[in-house]
Amino acid sequence: MNEELTLTILGGVDKDGVPEAIRFVEVSKGEIVGIVGPTGSGKSTLIDDIEQLAQGDTPAGRTILINGDKPDAMTRVNPRMKLVAQLSQNMHFLADMTVGDFLQMHARSRGKDEGLTKKVIDLANTLTGEPIAAHHPLTVLSGGQSRSLMTADIAVISDSPVVLIDEIENAGIKKQEALELLAGEGKIVVVVTHDPVLALMASRRIVIRNGGMVDIITTSPDEKDVCDRIAEVDNWLMSMRETIRRGDIVEDVA
Ligand SMILES: Nc1ncnc2c1ncn2[C@@H]1O[C@H](COP(=O)(O)OP(=O)(O)OP(=O)(O)O)[C@@H](O)[C@H]1O
Ligand SMILES: [Mg+2]
Repeated sequence: MNEELTLTILGGVDKDGVPEAIRFVEVSKGEIVGIVGPTGSGKSTLIDDIEQLAQGDTPAGRTILINGDKPDAMTRVNPRMKLVAQLSQNMHFLADMTVGDFLQMHARSRGKDEGLTKKVIDLANTLTGEPIAAHHPLTVLSGGQSRSLMTADIAVISDSPVVLIDEIENAGIKKQEALELLAGEGKIVVVVTHDPVLALMASRRIVIRNGGMVDIITTSPDEKDVCDRIAEVDNWLMSMRETIRRGDIVEDVA
């Protein structure tokens, strides 16, 4: 994880086959990049191109480079060398095992210390409300708990240096913390979002229209200020939700 890493997107074509206005996007370690655009514009399609390390072989005809080069065939298929991890829109575990067994198995398969299991669970519990325990069966976890566990698992156990997140806003987890956690581990984070806080946490955001990358906006210092202010309102709202969830009375709405 300490080596340098860049991810490059070379533009392809939009839904009409017209070359994309943005031909070249290069992203470095620890950077958060947003993807924004109307419903159906092609945001998930761009995420999928990155996930598959497309080589001009998808409908949009984009090419993804790692450290300026085409990834070799091994990198594209070997799960141990998997460069890209994805947190998808709908996530549920199907495996019939406990949280602890699952994490131990994952740690072993990555050649990591099984003691990391506790670290993952502790981290996941900073992102979610109702705590997850090692003895819980995976299948009883809620959507938010599953997402929190996956986020912590990607941050601690998985070596994948690129993390793709499709619409985390409705996942019922502390989304800012989750994003900061992943970027803080030196990962490249690409996040599809309509959430102003998440979009402005990104250093840049790619604008998608009609299947094509039409613009790339660098977050200005003014926007960063706005982001901090919205985050305050957001956190206040979140604590209000927590109060309601706990079954407590909301007293101060000053
Ligand atoms: N460059 C492209 N060339 C051809 N088809 C495309 C292209 N980009 C997107 N599409 C197609 O457009 C449709 C919508 O794309 P996609 O699901 O990526 O949109 P989205 O922005 O993620 O939408 P939502 O906001 O609803 O999640 C898909 O069927 C996809 O295959
Ligand atoms: Mg989508």
